[in-house]
Amino acid sequence: MSIFKSHTIKKAVVLLSGSGSNFQAILDSITAYEIALEICAVISNVPDARGIDRAKTHGIPTYIVNNHDYSERINFDKALLDKVVKYDPDYLVLAGFMRILSSEFIKKFNKPIFNIHPSLLPKYKGLNTHQRVLDKNEKLHGCSVHLVTKELDGGPLIIQGEVSVKNDDDVKKLAARVLKVEHMIYKKALNLFITNQITYENLRVMKINKEIEIPLKVRMD
Ligand code: GRF
Repeated sequence: MSIFKSHTIKKAVVLLSGSGSNFQAILDSITAYEIALEICAVISNVPDARGIDRAKTHGIPTYIVNNHDYSERINFDKALLDKVVKYDPDYLVLAGFMRILSSEFIKKFNKPIFNIHPSLLPKYKGLNTHQRVLDKNEKLHGCSVHLVTKELDGGPLIIQGEVSVKNDDDVKKLAARVLKVEHMIYKKALNLFITNQITYENLRVMKINKEIEIPLKVRMD
């Protein structure tokens, strides 16, 4: 049973490739009635992704669309989109999904696609962000939730979570602290959309609540 009026509940499909701890954090906040969201399906490109088990535990339909089964990327994207649209979701939530969606996919879906990235974008797009941050002796690191556009890790920013880099940090310690903040900010970002404080038009973020500074910053040390 939900405490939310049915018309306020948005629907999302989650795409993931691995552990799915961000998906779990979103799920936990749904279960705690913090956000009016229903996750209608979880799709992974990796058959044994732990996130798939998490979804099954909660009775959420799961699908594997393995990119290795498709020689052409266009066919992988099509198979993925076919599964996604079946649920007519309001949002697509990328939670550690390690494939790049084509611009055709993004255009065809034509609704918000969210992603979480382990750096303070626009710095450190791409992979191995924690190591690169340590190599550069950065004092500040963190994570960003943004909308997905055809530019890799380059879409409009919604929330950033900042953490200080400590002198004795290694990749493992730093990644663990950043991940903790990821779990805080992803649900917040989704909630800004669910509650119509921010909306989206033509891949641009439109602020409805004028009090909000975008990107919203959260600091955790
Ligand atoms: C996170 O660090 C996220 O920022 C990145 O992939 C990782 C996924 O972790 N995109 P999890 O699968 O949610 O635990």
